[in-house]
Amino acid sequence: MEALLDTRSHVPSASQRTADDVTARVVAHQWVNAEYKHLVLDAPEPAPLAQAGQFFHLECPQAGEDRPFFRRPMSVYKADPGKGQVEFLYKVTGAGTRGLATLRVGDTMRILGPLGVGFTLDESWKNIVVLGRGVGLATLAPLAEMAAANGVGVTAIFSARGPEQVMSTERFAKTGARIEIVLDSDGSSAVENVERLLRRIAREGKTGAFFTCGSDRLMLLMQRLGRELGIRGEVALEQQMACGIGMCFCCVRNFRSGNEVVSRRVCWDGPVFRLDEAMSW
Ligand SMILES: Cc1cc2nc3c(=O)[nH]c(=O)nc-3n(C[C@H](O)[C@H](O)[C@H](O)COP(=O)(O)OP(=O)(O)OC[C@H]3O[C@@H](n4cnc5c(N)ncnc54)[C@H](O)[C@@H]3O)c2cc1C
Ligand code: FES
Repeated sequence: MEALLDTRSHVPSASQRTADDVTARVVAHQWVNAEYKHLVLDAPEPAPLAQAGQFFHLECPQAGEDRPFFRRPMSVYKADPGKGQVEFLYKVTGAGTRGLATLRVGDTMRILGPLGVGFTLDESWKNIVVLGRGVGLATLAPLAEMAAANGVGVTAIFSARGPEQVMSTERFAKTGARIEIVLDSDGSSAVENVERLLRRIAREGKTGAFFTCGSDRLMLLMQRLGRELGIRGEVALEQQMACGIGMCFCCVRNFRSGNEVVSRRVCWDGPVFRLDEAMSW
């Protein structure tokens, strides 16, 4: 089926969005484990006003042979308007993030944001389940805090290769979230096992809504169960980006909308989308 460009106004217009390209200063930058770094920036408004699920386009320094041309998108891991800070948790994977990893305390960098459409919480949801794989949990951590602040109970399922890759548990624990960890190393992250876990949580009446980030197969699982059990939800998608602001169409993905397949820009229409409309690669 041919995909149509989705031009319906289901997302905030440009004039309703507040984003700016600002200079931020590194106040802390540490390795969390062998692959991930935690970056804390002092940044002027509107950066610290970022909402859960929104992202920034980060300028990445050149380092050695690495010459990252485009900025790199990163979800906001924490935004604190009181302190005037934004935080990121990122995996060092290629030229951009290798450059990012060289930043030292006191260095400055340009950050554009907050960008995109974040998570929503429906008043009728008394309990939610967040299911994250790898760094997907960085995206879901502010959602858990937003839910807790609104009196919504959270069950957080962490999926990771092994215990070393499990991060942010303390942040989720502070919200009072119930935490379940599933790992590749002991086989517990297998889809069938996560499905059993989700069904158990549903039987306990704790699945007002599903939220997920970081894994296609886990998104498909939540989508299937959501359809079967009548549970709505949202997914934060990742896609390579160039402009980050809706101009270049390099981040387009297909979505199911009624009987149509439509194309949407992950940077502008998302990165958070309705779970039932997302399509896997
Ligand atoms: C909205 C959004 C939020 C994100 N939030 C985070 C975050 O909080 N923490 C984090 O660690 N990462 C996050 N990412 C992914 C991050 O942007 C990429 O890992 C980063 O751009 C890689 O850049 P690089 O130059 O280091 O690697 P590259 O050399 O560009 O790529 C290294 C490898 O990763 C693949 N890749 C690059 N970008 C993406 C992408 N966007 N999605 C899937 N595969 C990709 C490439 O195909 C290649 O195989 C996010 C992406 C998006 C779109
Ligand atoms: S990255 Fe340019 S339109 Fe999304």
